[in-house]
Amino acid sequence: MLSKTMQDAMNEQIKNELYSAYLYLSMATHFESANLPGFAHWMKIQATEEVKHSMKFFEYIVDRGGKVSLKAIDQPPADFKTTLDIFKMAYKHEQKVTGMIHKLYELSLKENDYPTQVMLQWFIKEQVEEEKSAEGIIEQLKMAGDSSAALLMADRQFAQRKGD
Ligand code: FEO
Repeated sequence: MLSKTMQDAMNEQIKNELYSAYLYLSMATHFESANLPGFAHWMKIQATEEVKHSMKFFEYIVDRGGKVSLKAIDQPPADFKTTLDIFKMAYKHEQKVTGMIHKLYELSLKENDYPTQVMLQWFIKEQVEEEKSAEGIIEQLKMAGDSSAALLMADRQFAQRKGD
């Protein structure tokens, strides 16, 4: 059985992962209106990944005999600047999420909750990938600079992203 503290913290993380989905969906709507369907597609896939993350917490709470409690999700920003700014924002957001996952892990250590430690190791690894992918795109966009041709090429490339 999960402790009440661990359960509350994980319920909070369900909300945080769903907020991530909301944030990326908001970025997707920006790219749709900016006629960059490849970037929009990438963001929509990212949003579905975040829903899957929230469901991992949901199922885990249930598996451990806990109770899921859904919280209100904040409204994400809707006004964005350049494509580079958006990915910088995504990278910063992922760093914040990494911090949240690490906090959950620290709590599981404090509570000697071994199953939760194992469960969270997946997320610790996933966050390395999440940060790496956002950082890689930032580097690519920096190289593209102000070139519309390079941006359109990147857009075509991002249209190929497949979900897990
Ligand atoms: Fe669920 Fe992007 O971390």
